[in-house]
Amino acid sequence: MNKADVLLGLQWGDEGKGKIVDVLTPKYDIIARFQGGPNAGHTLEFNGIKHVLHTIPSGIFHPTAINVVGNGVVIDPVIFKKEIDALVNMGVDVKAKLLISKRAHLILPTHRLLDAASEASKGKNKIGSTLKGIGPTYMDKTGRNGLRVGDIELPDFKEKYNALVEKHKQLLAFHHYDYNLAELEPAWFNAIGDLKQLVFVDTEHYINDAIRLGKKILAEGAQGSLLDIDFGSYPFVTSSNTICAGACNGLGIAPNKIGQVIGIFKAYCTRVGGGPFPTELDNEVGEKIRQVGREFGATTGRARRTGWLDLPALKYAIEINGVTELMMMKADILSEFDTIQVCTHYLHRGKKIDYLPYSIDPGEVTPVYEELKGWHCDLTKLTTKEQLPEALISYVKYIEKAAGVPVSIVSIGPDRTQTIRM
Ligand code: GDP
Ligand code: IMO
Ligand code: MG
Repeated sequence: MNKADVLLGLQWGDEGKGKIVDVLTPKYDIIARFQGGPNAGHTLEFNGIKHVLHTIPSGIFHPTAINVVGNGVVIDPVIFKKEIDALVNMGVDVKAKLLISKRAHLILPTHRLLDAASEASKGKNKIGSTLKGIGPTYMDKTGRNGLRVGDIELPDFKEKYNALVEKHKQLLAFHHYDYNLAELEPAWFNAIGDLKQLVFVDTEHYINDAIRLGKKILAEGAQGSLLDIDFGSYPFVTSSNTICAGACNGLGIAPNKIGQVIGIFKAYCTRVGGGPFPTELDNEVGEKIRQVGREFGATTGRARRTGWLDLPALKYAIEINGVTELMMMKADILSEFDTIQVCTHYLHRGKKIDYLPYSIDPGEVTPVYEELKGWHCDLTKLTTKEQLPEALISYVKYIEKAAGVPVSIVSIGPDRTQTIRM
């Protein structure tokens, strides 16, 4: 039976999903985003071009692959328009290759204001949101107040919009939040006009028909498993299900139609925003990883927090996603180090554990490390598995053994070509 594959991040996002989706796209007919919104920043590099996508799937540069924005995604028309304009300027025929779910929810200007108001009210406990309006939009979705792409075509769209904005104004007044909505609305409605030119479909039918027809489908996740609304480090998470099950909800794919689950992880860890990070290196080693790895957010430009690979967290993510295949990113960044630490366990209430407990707050868990040999050589021009240094092969084997899942790709640079099949 033909099934859809899922590709997702196993850490706190920014694992390199965009790069790998672009690398894998030639194998697929359809690439479909299933959750998140413009909080994501997925970077692709090829032919000397670096491009960051936020809402549009990372298969868009392929000449024929169809890219689907699923019902689980939230769309900011203004950001979407900018993304499309940039692609069109690069000669990409976006309209011919992009389908948008009528069930996807719209991010209103007031959702962004509410995101900012909510963060401001949290003070030092703020989530570190990307301030793209993600939380408030998903709140309206589950609160059954949201506006969807399909509503744009209805005669009472403006009334629906006004009713939701009225509610938002009351919430903003509750937060004592100052704003100027009149400054934001023209660009939003203008972008809605542009959005209307694109193709809206019932993507659940489209995807299921495609599965029946034997088409190859790859569902592209955003964020990472440790930012999942249920299984992440709540409340320091995003507002959607980033895990594999999110692909079922966010595209209408039945669980028995999920094929391979490809889990992407960095050879170390990063996190942007607030929340616990057990293996964080708040020192010169962490700073070195940040500088060498250029660990600055693709969406907000914020410095990413850095740390060693966390195996209990990785194993947890593998389990809840049913990962069948791993891909390790940014191996080249660790070339700078003589030795590499890996967190194998946590000390939790006097006991050594190798799983993720309810809380991973600093007082709750202390990472236990094992030191491994570094490879200390430039990987970035290598092209085959046979050329990889022995110490890197050992690092990969060590992770495969702990994870119980094979690593099929090791990435050695941001470019499409810097990809080693194992
Ligand atoms: P995503 O959100 O998972 O798509 O990841 P981001 O694009 O936010 O962040 C990953 C960053 O690492 C981007 O700047 C990529 O160009 C870059 N990148 C991806 N893979 C590699 C790699 O193997 N080595 C290096 N040096 N950079 C990489
Ligand atoms: P990609 O798809 C890394 C983080 C934010 C914040 C938290 C909540 O590029 O991997 P939100 O804006 O969703 O309310 O923010 O989640 N976050 C990400 N971190 N990569 C992302 O996406 C992220 N999307 C959200 O920094 O801590
Ligand atoms: Mg990113």
